[in-house]
Amino acid sequence: MDVSTREQWMTIVDSTIAAQPRVSQQLLAMVRGLGDITDGFSVDQMQHALQTATRAERDGADEEVIVASLLHDVGKLISVPNHPKIAAEILKPYVRHEVYCMIAFHQDFQGRYYYEYLGMDPTLRNQHAGEAWYPLAERFADHWDQKAFDPNYPSESLEHFEPMVHRVFAQAKSL
Ligand SMILES: [Fe+2]
Repeated sequence: MDVSTREQWMTIVDSTIAAQPRVSQQLLAMVRGLGDITDGFSVDQMQHALQTATRAERDGADEEVIVASLLHDVGKLISVPNHPKIAAEILKPYVRHEVYCMIAFHQDFQGRYYYEYLGMDPTLRNQHAGEAWYPLAERFADHWDQKAFDPNYPSESLEHFEPMVHRVFAQAKSL
């Protein structure tokens, strides 16, 4: 890099911008990949993703929130313990701060429903009380995510959400 030129960097920038559609394509492939993960739950992780996003959409959430709901567990493809931060960092340049936080801290909110069974603190969400994004994170966890394991729920298909994913990931808004 120490011998690179402005012209070379303009080529790299132009090529990167032109290749942006691969980002949403890759993320949609990751959601499909969640179909291989069940890990003892009553639905596989792709069904869980579709159901979470469908519940968000039917509850009137905006497009960034719906897409974040669809992608919130894609980190499980790589590592379950820290999966919230993986999805949150993927989303960060493309969504507003409260949506990033909704995903980054979602396990602290979900813990209310099962941490006691694992010897962990089910009140971890309380450490975020007072944050501007707290109501959204609570809505996500309590009304969409934790409910989205119903094998009989009529979820939308991945194709339904594809245009939304393409729009949200069309252009980064921040680093
Ligand atoms: Fe989830």
